[in-house]
Amino acid sequence: MTTQRTLSILKPDVTRRNLTGKINSLIEDTGLKIVAQKRLKLSLSQAQAFYSVHKKRSFFNDLINFMISGPIIVQVLEGENAVATYRDKMGATDPKKAAPYTIRAQFAESIEANSVHGSDSLKNASVEIRFFFSEIEINA
Ligand code: RTP
Ligand code: MG
Repeated sequence: MTTQRTLSILKPDVTRRNLTGKINSLIEDTGLKIVAQKRLKLSLSQAQAFYSVHKKRSFFNDLINFMISGPIIVQVLEGENAVATYRDKMGATDPKKAAPYTIRAQFAESIEANSVHGSDSLKNASVEIRFFFSEIEINA
């Protein structure tokens, strides 16, 4: 048994459509526990810093503009193999390619407005969690 933590973001398309509870329910159905959560609005410089790994990609400016277009929910998820468990439940980046049981298949609007972010490795999870949370805010 490997207990891990991963960073989740419910993106602006989720807060705009009032889907936070429905998506949290799907997250909790996986067995992962939401051990920290807050709602905030990213500034331009915060969004650019969080997504700096993508700064050379063609979609970078569109992605940043989308991520600052409304409030987001940032969360720490904890549980068995949390990084892979959550990536599986999120589904493929393009919702048209996502399996039916996934969050993106059920809720994403497009490849960009795809409802959720999840850390893609244990190392990135640690960096991303520290970007948004201090240890005192995370409670299992
Ligand atoms: P995420 O980082 O949000 O968990 O998503 P991911 O790993 O599945 O996808 P990634 O390749 O890391 O891309 C980050 C986010 O950029 C937007 N995107 N737009 N227009 C496009 O072709 C395109 N491709 C990616 C999506 O919001 C994606 O989740
Ligand atoms: Mg990614």
